[in-house]
Amino acid sequence: MITSNTIQQITNRIDIIDVVGEFVKLKKRGTNFIGNCPFHNEKSPSFTVSPAKEIYKCFGCGKSGNTITFLMEHEKYSYVESLRWLAARYNIEIEETETSPAQKLAQQVADSLYAINNFAMDFFAKQYWETEAGESIAQSYMQHRGFLKPIVEKFKIGYNPSDKDSLAKALIQNQFNPELFAKTGLVVERNGEWQDNYRDRIIFPIHNTTGKIIGFGARQIAKNDKSPKYINSPENDIYVKSKILYGSYFARTSIDKLNECLLVEGYTDVVSLHQAGIENVVASGGTSLTIDQLRLIKKYTQNLTIIYDGDAAGVKAALRGLDMALEEGLNVQLVLIPDKEDPDSYVNKVGPDAFREFVQSAKKDFVLFQLEVQLKEVGGDLNKKNALVNQIAETLSKINKPEDFTKLQEYVRKCSSLLRIDETGLTQLVNKFKRDKIVKEEKKMSYDEAAILMPSFPQGQEQQQDTDLFTDKDLAHEKNLVKLIIEYGNELTKENKLVAQWIFDEIESFPLENEDMVYLIEAYKKWFYAGKLPNGKTLQYHEDEKVQKWVVSLFEPDHELSTRWNEKLGKPEREDVKDIINEIEIGLMYFKLRKVKKMISQNQMDLETAPEKEQIQLLQIHKHLKEVERELTQGIGTVIMK
Ligand code: GTP
Ligand code: MN
Repeated sequence: MITSNTIQQITNRIDIIDVVGEFVKLKKRGTNFIGNCPFHNEKSPSFTVSPAKEIYKCFGCGKSGNTITFLMEHEKYSYVESLRWLAARYNIEIEETETSPAQKLAQQVADSLYAINNFAMDFFAKQYWETEAGESIAQSYMQHRGFLKPIVEKFKIGYNPSDKDSLAKALIQNQFNPELFAKTGLVVERNGEWQDNYRDRIIFPIHNTTGKIIGFGARQIAKNDKSPKYINSPENDIYVKSKILYGSYFARTSIDKLNECLLVEGYTDVVSLHQAGIENVVASGGTSLTIDQLRLIKKYTQNLTIIYDGDAAGVKAALRGLDMALEEGLNVQLVLIPDKEDPDSYVNKVGPDAFREFVQSAKKDFVLFQLEVQLKEVGGDLNKKNALVNQIAETLSKINKPEDFTKLQEYVRKCSSLLRIDETGLTQLVNKFKRDKIVKEEKKMSYDEAAILMPSFPQGQEQQQDTDLFTDKDLAHEKNLVKLIIEYGNELTKENKLVAQWIFDEIESFPLENEDMVYLIEAYKKWFYAGKLPNGKTLQYHEDEKVQKWVVSLFEPDHELSTRWNEKLGKPEREDVKDIINEIEIGLMYFKLRKVKKMISQNQMDLETAPEKEQIQLLQIHKHLKEVERELTQGIGTVIMK
């Protein structure tokens, strides 16, 4: 974590005109500066920056904020990334609190990998532009494909010569750490020596969204059926395939402005479209989209347009990501490029304007597209039709954000008419899938929460009350809370209140549901209010066997307790009361958050079946619950950071 001292230093140095001016052309007007708003398209400037107040505001689209929110909004940095960017700009050394040796080591490895990649990128560019082989082989290949100098330079495309070890030699000469060579995939060890891995290939450096080089794609020049057309960097500390979209660094501003992201398959598609002036484009590398890639897109826009070759393989791959995309609330459109072309060859064939027009006119809603394709396969087969209806209902059930409610209704209308089935029937089926999914999700414990919350289960007593949506996870939360009460109930809060009383007050409107936990807490309360100061030890000897058993099982030391809880609960001598209170605060908030989330899903289900006149009220309830949820989530964030 960055220390508050460093944050202070950074905020003292911030010059909003300097920072915003880096991304927007600003002109002085009176005491303020104005420019064309980077957040929406405009011809006359309405974006105003006030150096005195250190804020910006656009009178066109209403966006406003300070230097840090500008970086977060414009560059999609996180808060911490923005601070780091500013620190680098103003040469402020970042002081961090509590970095563990492991974290430090990881950071060092990452930094070294970046350094090697940077060096390699410059090396490849040099080979491309300044050597004979670069000119006669690489440049002529790229020229032949229609890539002009400015675009090759912009994407830092390079060339790895065909000699066996030109890059390897340069890396060693420049004293990079050979222990990391294998990780980069740039060179490989053969017969005890380092050799180049991307020999005689065009090199596409891959930038992450902040512009750092995390890996490479290497395309063969000479056709050779024995080796793959492309070689990509292997997964390593900085190259995580599932999180990468090629071109995102160059596309981000354009995606933001046009509020649309085009998705293509290949490196060359991205570069060609850029050259044609179409910049809101990224590539997936031809595989199905992952959830992380979808979320990356969603940082910039809700509107995703997939532009693939008409061949079946690519489209099938993309289809696999569809349900996830819907779940993320993305609007997905599909454009199929005709005649065995791909976006690169097609834009070269028809030119930028015709390409743009084609994309506009050929856009198809992805859900309806999928339905149309499959309807053709079904023909008159009733079994197949049944399966298709179910499949469509399941797909539609993924649209579950309340703000997407109208979108869902529209889909149900269109799909039921295409399928020639009853609209209400389809709605009911969709709702059934939604309910099934909620039940399933509740069972799956998310890793983060589990790490903190998973208390031990008494053997053979795992109760699953799926029918009323009370799951293992709920049980885990309730157990955790009960455990906190028993363990720390007799400590005092800052306000000199007994912790148990404090928790009872806090959860008054969030009652426990699990029978056994309610039973246990009632037993606790009896002792507590009789002034008996119950605790884990004494309750183990409670006259009621049921209470005994539960207390013992709750404090069983072996089980899957997270290390944190193990430390906290295992040791009798504990740290500061302050730390305990902090832990309880977190536990309480998780508990409440859980309950609120359940209320939200319940409300959502009600919303689906409610008559129109009740919907507004339910939406208001939803809004309120979301607000509470947000506060709790934020609260958890701040308390954990303390
Ligand atoms: P060009 O043929 O140079 O125009 O490339 P392309 O992007 O049109 O290639 P293609 O449509 O065949 O493949 C799309 C994407 O899939 C590529 O950009 C690569 O990311 C990936 N890809 C293609 N071939 C291979 C391969 O042999 N190995 C690996 N790992 N990836 C490949
Ligand atoms: Mn191609």
